[in-house]
Amino acid sequence: MTNDSRYPRRLIEVDLPIRRISAHARREKDMRLGHIPSLHIYPAARPTAACRAVVCATLWPDPLDELCPQSFRGNADTAMRSFARLVIGSRELLEICDTDSRKRYSKIAQADEPLTVEQLRILLLDFIADLASWEASTNSVFLQTARSITAAAHEALGGLRDTRALVVDPFSGGGAIPLEAIRIGADAFASDLNPVAVLINKVVLQYIPTYGRQLADEIGRWCGWAQKMASDELSAYYPRDPDGSVPIAYLWARTIACEGPACGAVVPLMRSFWLARKGRKIALKPVVSGHQIAFEIVHNPDTRMIPRGTIARGSVTCPCCGFTTPVASVRKQLSAVAGGSDSALLYAVVVDSPASGRQFRLPVDRDHVAADAARNRLQEISAGAEWNTPLSFAPSEPLPPDGTLGFRVQKYGMTLWRDIFNSRQLLALATYARLAREYVPDVDDPGLAEAVNGCVALIVDRLADLNAALCVWQLNTPNTAHVFGRWALPMNWDYGEVNPLAGAGGSPESAVRRMIAHVSHLASAGTHAGHVEQASATRHPLPDDVAAAFVTDPPYYDAMPYSDLLDFFYVWLKRCAQPRLADLTRNEVGPKDDECIVDNVRGKDRVFYETAMRQAMAEGRRVLAPSGLGVVVFAHKSTSGWEALLQSVIDAGFVVTASWPIDTEMGSRLRAKSSAALASSVHLVCRPRENADGSIKENHVGDWRSVLRELPQQIHAWMPRLAKEGVVGADAIFACLGPALEIYSRYSIVEKASGERVHLREYLEQVWAAVAREALSMIFEDADTTGLEEDARLTAMWLWTISTSVDGGGGTSSDGEDDEGEGEGNDEDDEERPAKGLGGEGLELEFDAARKIAQGLGAHLEDLCRVVEIKGDRARLLAVAERTGHLFGSDELRGAPVRRTKRVKQLTLFEELEAAEKDAGWGDVGLPKLGETTLDRVHQAMVLFAAGRGEAMKRFLVEEGVGRNATFWKLAQSLSALYPAGTDEKRWVDGVLARKKALGFG
Ligand SMILES: C[S@@+](CC[C@H](N)C(=O)[O-])C[C@H]1O[C@@H](n2cnc3c(N)ncnc32)[C@H](O)[C@@H]1O
Ligand SMILES: [Zn+2]
Repeated sequence: MTNDSRYPRRLIEVDLPIRRISAHARREKDMRLGHIPSLHIYPAARPTAACRAVVCATLWPDPLDELCPQSFRGNADTAMRSFARLVIGSRELLEICDTDSRKRYSKIAQADEPLTVEQLRILLLDFIADLASWEASTNSVFLQTARSITAAAHEALGGLRDTRALVVDPFSGGGAIPLEAIRIGADAFASDLNPVAVLINKVVLQYIPTYGRQLADEIGRWCGWAQKMASDELSAYYPRDPDGSVPIAYLWARTIACEGPACGAVVPLMRSFWLARKGRKIALKPVVSGHQIAFEIVHNPDTRMIPRGTIARGSVTCPCCGFTTPVASVRKQLSAVAGGSDSALLYAVVVDSPASGRQFRLPVDRDHVAADAARNRLQEISAGAEWNTPLSFAPSEPLPPDGTLGFRVQKYGMTLWRDIFNSRQLLALATYARLAREYVPDVDDPGLAEAVNGCVALIVDRLADLNAALCVWQLNTPNTAHVFGRWALPMNWDYGEVNPLAGAGGSPESAVRRMIAHVSHLASAGTHAGHVEQASATRHPLPDDVAAAFVTDPPYYDAMPYSDLLDFFYVWLKRCAQPRLADLTRNEVGPKDDECIVDNVRGKDRVFYETAMRQAMAEGRRVLAPSGLGVVVFAHKSTSGWEALLQSVIDAGFVVTASWPIDTEMGSRLRAKSSAALASSVHLVCRPRENADGSIKENHVGDWRSVLRELPQQIHAWMPRLAKEGVVGADAIFACLGPALEIYSRYSIVEKASGERVHLREYLEQVWAAVAREALSMIFEDADTTGLEEDARLTAMWLWTISTSVDGGGGTSSDGEDDEGEGEGNDEDDEERPAKGLGGEGLELEFDAARKIAQGLGAHLEDLCRVVEIKGDRARLLAVAERTGHLFGSDELRGAPVRRTKRVKQLTLFEELEAAEKDAGWGDVGLPKLGETTLDRVHQAMVLFAAGRGEAMKRFLVEEGVGRNATFWKLAQSLSALYPAGTDEKRWVDGVLARKKALGFG
């Protein structure tokens, strides 16, 4: 590839070891430390592995590029060589490295002659992939090497000595991108609109790099002091049992009055009567007498003896009279008591007994008295001036309006943030918040004092996350889950309340231990500090042309109501903050107006979002030096959403030069319903489309015909490379967007010969078509596909699109939480995960994507209802069994709509085949009418195989001559490679192929 820009290409524009980086990114989720969510959870936090690799590849030039400065080549050569020597002499370092890169390191460590530029590129990419590993992130050899290469790149590209390349992230969130920038030796300017994000960024980018271990020690000191104070003030509200057992959790259920005729029983809303299910099996047995419900605790009960819980899908069935009180009434009754967190029924207490460990017992008077006393104390403090604070004692800030994405609790009368806690939880949290605010560390440095306050505030956030009346009691751990197991605030009927003085999960000790370990871990990377500000990305505080890179992960339409969710933390942060953090905490709730999201409740539509995003991108380009590079991370969800985002990048004056999908477990990242096929987030690489003087290139008109000529060549060059990296299917389509857009976005405008402007949408249709054609020729290994009808081409492309990379997509862990973490959800808001394999939703595509694929193949989706079912905005490839009637039946049956069967079992298929057989009258010795298309005939053979009709299959293939057609076998072969492993289809088509030889077809 020749470089026609004035600046050397960076590595990310030419190559990126995405398979290895993705593996590290997925693995990072299992690490307890080292990634930011273990410091403070953040919605959509990026794995640092991906950020580290991306930042390096963005700042480092490609040695192979003709414009790459010789000084960079020389310095990078020296750095890689001495790194290689250290690696081969160290077992510890070797273990961090990939097998292939180890071999290359050992080769160059021994060689004397300078590296070729080709070798240097490969080594730098190897190094980037190895550096992405979690172990490398604090290893001094890795970090020094990375830092020296970053410095070499900076100087070679014109940076002044003793300065660093500046990386800007205006949507910095939890700070993963800027953290990785400083880690590898760049400067970082992190900003975010949200104050919670800003505080996390300060901790990560300023406090920890500046104070390191000293900060960890001070946090430990606070904990000792605060826990003593808290225990004096609070222990009366968590009384021990007479035998010395310590209650560690109280299990509560909201209640309603049964609305059954003449009943009125107080019914606890419980999803289940189980208390523990893994290992020891313990449950509650309801004992009903008249209109009273009491409980007994039973050990190892017969599972059938334990009735279902009282609440399912929001309506409540009374154990006394059997009446079901409907959702609407439940909402009404709970609304009358602000959601009922504080009027809930205590149904069990979990205690830690010195003699027998963790036990469950029924509540006794002592427990009720303590809870009442806490309630009275809260009222007393709230009413009096005992606590000198301008803010209410418990957070009385409003929850977001009803209807806000992901929030359900308002429907049950919770309107203030305090409503999602019970009184004792509020008393405890407010006490810790006060202890955070009032603490004066014994240090001279006001900066350190601010750092301690900031970190301690994050600890209180964690306590709140683990001790709200929305924390589900998990039967498998058994433990309480934290509020944000996923990023939403669904309704929970029953909850576990933690005793913060018990030293168990949810206590300050455990939160502090975690924080200290994290601070020490990050401090061991020995980075310099970054710069943090609260600002809107649409009005960036930096002057023009100062950044070497603009790397950011913007919000995405309505995927996450960040500010609404983060208010959960913000209201506590305000109560913890000392005056030094006042700038962050002076508003009632976090900023909403300027937030770049779609928020229908507040009247912020797609146009608002797209306009704001365009402004943010334009600001990014403004602060970026003309030679600088932008990387914008997008979680792709819908193709139309993509188009709008790409448009905003192009309109902002960027040329797109590459795009890389990195699999970072998107499944858990989006709030809900990600498509089965799209598993990665795409890193879109772009450069300012500028003249030498920094002004945007206007009136640079591209010719549509030459753009179209270049497109297939570009795709043809990329697809095989991606396939080599294990990138296939939808990921490959998205990875091709970058190179494809490079052609289009080079121009300020592309015109047809008629002078008509070509819009991005029209170009993207062409891109999809080119990708589909290229993919098809890869699928059929360059065989001539013209002999195949459109149903076969569409089926093959469809299967290819939904296929994922060789490494698989990774699991569904939550955003970085550990043992105290995973929520078990609740029945009202449970998400369905897409099923794998044929016949399930795993075969669904977004209609628009499917339409584009079809169009690219010269087919029309609407005409292909024989193989595809369209429903609303989804399209689904039919399972072969579902096609039986069409394949074997009479002409009428062939024309009839397909019977929807989710997963047709063989027996059903057998019956279906018999029915169709009878209907068409071909019987035992006859044969079905040959299918019209090659795909139909392959599917017919598959069904005959599945039904055990060996003889009929033989007649079909041999006597009817179906098997003499080479295209038939070619298609069967391709489908065998495309049907997902473990599906019926895969087995069946392989069964047909296995007969090929025996039937004499070679
Ligand atoms: C996808 S998140 C960033 C996540 C981050 N990369 C991480 O790893 O944690 C997007 C961020 O954009 C922020 N945001 C939304 N609108 C903004 C605006 N107008 N200006 C600055 N930040 C904004 C949100 O607060 C959120 O933190
Ligand atoms: Zn009843």
